[in-house]
Amino acid sequence: MCGIVGFTGRENALPVLIKGLYSLEYRGYDSAGVAAFTKEGLRVVKTQGRIANLEEKIKEEGGLCCTCGIGHTRWATHGEPSDRNSHPHLGGKDGMGKVAVVHNGIIENYQDLRTRLEKHGYAFQSETDTETVAHLIDYLHTGKQEDLAQTVLAAVQRIRGSYALGVVSLDNPDEIVAARRDNPLVIGLGKEENMIASDITAIISRTDRYIILDDNEVAIVRPDGVTVMNEFGETLDKPVQTVTWDMSAAEKGGYEHFMIKEIMEQPKAVGDTVRPRIQNDSILFEECGLTDERLREIENIHIVACGSALHAGMVGKRVIESMCRVRCSAEVASEFRYENPIIGKKDLCIVVSQSGETADTLAAMRLAKQAGAFTVAIVNVVSSTIAREADGVLYTWAGPEIAVATTKAYSAQLAALYMISVRIARVRGHISIGDEKALCAELRRLPRLIEQTLACKEQMQRIATRYANRASVFFLGRGLDYAAALEASLKLKEISYVHSEAYAAGELKHGTISLIEKGTLVVALATQPALFEKTVSNIREVVSRGASVVLVTTDDFTGDESVCRHIVRLPKCLSEFSASLSIIPLQLLAYYVAVERSCDVDKPRNLAKSVTVE
Ligand code: AGP
Ligand code: GLU
Repeated sequence: MCGIVGFTGRENALPVLIKGLYSLEYRGYDSAGVAAFTKEGLRVVKTQGRIANLEEKIKEEGGLCCTCGIGHTRWATHGEPSDRNSHPHLGGKDGMGKVAVVHNGIIENYQDLRTRLEKHGYAFQSETDTETVAHLIDYLHTGKQEDLAQTVLAAVQRIRGSYALGVVSLDNPDEIVAARRDNPLVIGLGKEENMIASDITAIISRTDRYIILDDNEVAIVRPDGVTVMNEFGETLDKPVQTVTWDMSAAEKGGYEHFMIKEIMEQPKAVGDTVRPRIQNDSILFEECGLTDERLREIENIHIVACGSALHAGMVGKRVIESMCRVRCSAEVASEFRYENPIIGKKDLCIVVSQSGETADTLAAMRLAKQAGAFTVAIVNVVSSTIAREADGVLYTWAGPEIAVATTKAYSAQLAALYMISVRIARVRGHISIGDEKALCAELRRLPRLIEQTLACKEQMQRIATRYANRASVFFLGRGLDYAAALEASLKLKEISYVHSEAYAAGELKHGTISLIEKGTLVVALATQPALFEKTVSNIREVVSRGASVVLVTTDDFTGDESVCRHIVRLPKCLSEFSASLSIIPLQLLAYYVAVERSCDVDKPRNLAKSVTVE
């Protein structure tokens, strides 16, 4: 949700800012801008559209030569994507911008602040919540002896909501002040140069050393040093971290899009997630706090997440309940956080998040923690906020995921949830040592099975080409297949903009079947032998009403498949883990439909990779 970058040093800042913005573009891409100190003073160039449009505009305006500046790539929350709503925003009266601000987050009391600032003579140029921060800083700064950082500290005390801020002021042309609450911000430490950024991808080409800014802290960033203060203005001694990141993983490596590259990387993502946890045919979790004693005592499990991570959780819920016989729910984080959930001290809360920064998931986790539950985070981004705040972390080792639509991180999340399930089942005596050994072998086999499943690529491309023009698609399944159908449907709609719905196969007849007409594409999933016949009956119901059916099923499907137009066969696997295979052809379907419809696959409209606002 919006990317922030800032650079102060001896070299030209513009190429560093632009490069940083490109690497943050996945966070938001409806507009972009920079503010920099040039010979003419504080200059802002900003525009609706992508970073490439910004580069173009800077060129048209004669370039921008500076050694200190801030940049932003936006995902609009307040005000449409437009030139004037783009960041940076200037603070100051009579169009005299003395401070420039970039912001990630939402200022909840912006309306109140705006009214008050207008009374003090500030004229607003945009509809954003962010502009209030720029004017507020100017208002608090004007005529006072305080330095910029003290003013920012005073300003954030008047703000409700969430923010990561980058602020520059005409008074100190080589200084950037950064602040954060509930939105990520790192400070890159270089030689005679320092940076701020929403994440380390934007600093990695200049330095591998960085500091993570924590909530309510403010940093002063200059070429020759960085000072971090807490909310009381006291200087802090922050630990310096080092990036351990393989840069090549964030490149396309010959593929047309990151998404297809990441789909093909799933065997590795799952293998890397599973391998380190299995030792001597048993699953190890001790270091993340999931001790046998704790697992034995759990009364309820709450899996909380958003989007695809929630869909992984819905698979996890079914696997856990059937294997471990513990009550387990999978809940939408943005609902959970406000519905006063019943959480016991012996409950386990599993939050699932690729980015580790999703605002709703973070808030839900904090709530569960406060209520006394033990929180475990399944997270892909190392040192992300959720990873740092959870009682225990179980990393998915999917590597950097660049496409906005998740694929490999989702698959790795499923694997992590299976491992938790197997361990709980063993510790609570629902499975024997022998069963655990067999399940570990199945988990180790998963990457190979996914690899085999990926062989349906050409078949899915053909099906996609044939049905890409459909206005609406339905996904049907029961149990685990229903959970997988939800993810398949989300994949299709988010990248191809084709309307689609996922339905529990038996539920369709209770109303939604009225939408089925001649030519409607229905994708049915049937991977659970006990439910084959039931799902076939539901397939017959839609075929009788004119639907064309693609059936995704296993090698040993025994039902009548004659009514289906296309059959996609998955390799034989333990039915509990089938969602890891059934999603593969459907990710490919979504991908090829989006390509066929000429959509921007890696950066679908209106979305952002990391959703750090409510
Ligand atoms: C995935 O394809 C989605 N764009 C989205 O639903 C995502 O899964 C969701 O926003 C949660 O993100 P997280 O895993 O980073 O918490
Ligand atoms: N609320 C700000 C805006 O709409 C920032 C949004 C964001 O974090 O993406 O401009």
